[in-house]
Amino acid sequence: MSIVVTGATGQLGGLVIQHLLKKVPASQIIASVRNVEKASNLADLGVEVRYGDYNDFESMKKSFAGASKVLFISSPDYDNTLRVRQHANVVQAARDAGVKHIVYTGYAFAEESKLSLAHLHLATEYAIRTTDIPYTFLRNALYTEVFVNPGLKAAVEHGALVTNAGSGRLNTVTRNDLALAAATVLTEDGHENRTYNLVSNQTWSFDDLAQILTELSGKKVVHRSVSFDEAKENFVKSGLPEPLAVEFAKIYKAIAEGETAKTSDDLQKLIGSVTPLEETVKQVLRNGQ
Ligand SMILES: NC(=O)c1ccc[n+]([C@@H]2O[C@H](COP(=O)([O-])OP(=O)(O)OC[C@H]3O[C@@H](n4cnc5c(N)ncnc54)[C@H](OP(=O)(O)O)[C@@H]3O)[C@@H](O)[C@H]2O)c1
Repeated sequence: MSIVVTGATGQLGGLVIQHLLKKVPASQIIASVRNVEKASNLADLGVEVRYGDYNDFESMKKSFAGASKVLFISSPDYDNTLRVRQHANVVQAARDAGVKHIVYTGYAFAEESKLSLAHLHLATEYAIRTTDIPYTFLRNALYTEVFVNPGLKAAVEHGALVTNAGSGRLNTVTRNDLALAAATVLTEDGHENRTYNLVSNQTWSFDDLAQILTELSGKKVVHRSVSFDEAKENFVKSGLPEPLAVEFAKIYKAIAEGETAKTSDDLQKLIGSVTPLEETVKQVLRNGQ
């Protein structure tokens, strides 16, 4: 059995490979990457590294040759229309290479989302279904690290966490929990043609996060909710290009409107227990990462 992981030089892909290495010999793992040099650490671990670019169908097909399973990690491009084309290349390549099982990282509760990225993930799921290859859809939550990262140190300094998320609740989970879930699905039987919503079984709000920051830092931190436009301007001031600032503010707006408030036991059932928010906040304040 050989397992190909795409996006293996990325943050999620790298963690998936670490978990896979605890479950199967390195000789069964293949990393499909667009930058082979960047994957030298994986080659050092005995993982075969192959060139594959989502924009180049032939390279993807070659990188999938002989693979029984593929973990297809979605492209990070924020042009969702371009991503449809990239993803179609990957799916066609998996089909033509004779892959036996495609595991895809989508977006939790995608049908109910108002975000354009949800359509990209649904389009990809449907593209995979056209191949008749057994699939597993890992519909990932937003990563906790999108919100809990070294930027929180500035919030502690200023005593304020500023967002346009209102009192919206979040079902985020860590990349590491999602990576363990992916490695579990790739190495266990019985996950064919299943769709999992990999969100937390407990939600949090930015008011809760401000409270945790207050408790852990000993400094009073409050959550201040601002308008969409003010939040977008703050993202621009922090250095994000305008289109990305708009996308981020849209995500927080979707949170305010309840898009990330749903829970599920799917992740807990796959990995045993979900990392609590406090633990991730502690790590960030301690290590700055
Ligand atoms: N759930 C969430 O909150 C959330 C947040 C952000 C993104 N995402 C999605 O989840 C995916 C994985 O997250 P992540 O944190 O691991 O992202 P990441 O660290 O940005 O990794 C993305 C990976 O995709 C590779 N890649 C980019 N363009 C490619 C191309 N044309 N052909 C082949 N590979 C390409 C990158 O290669 P290089 O190393 O060469 O750049 C990298 O290995 C993202 O790509 C995105 O679709 C989810």
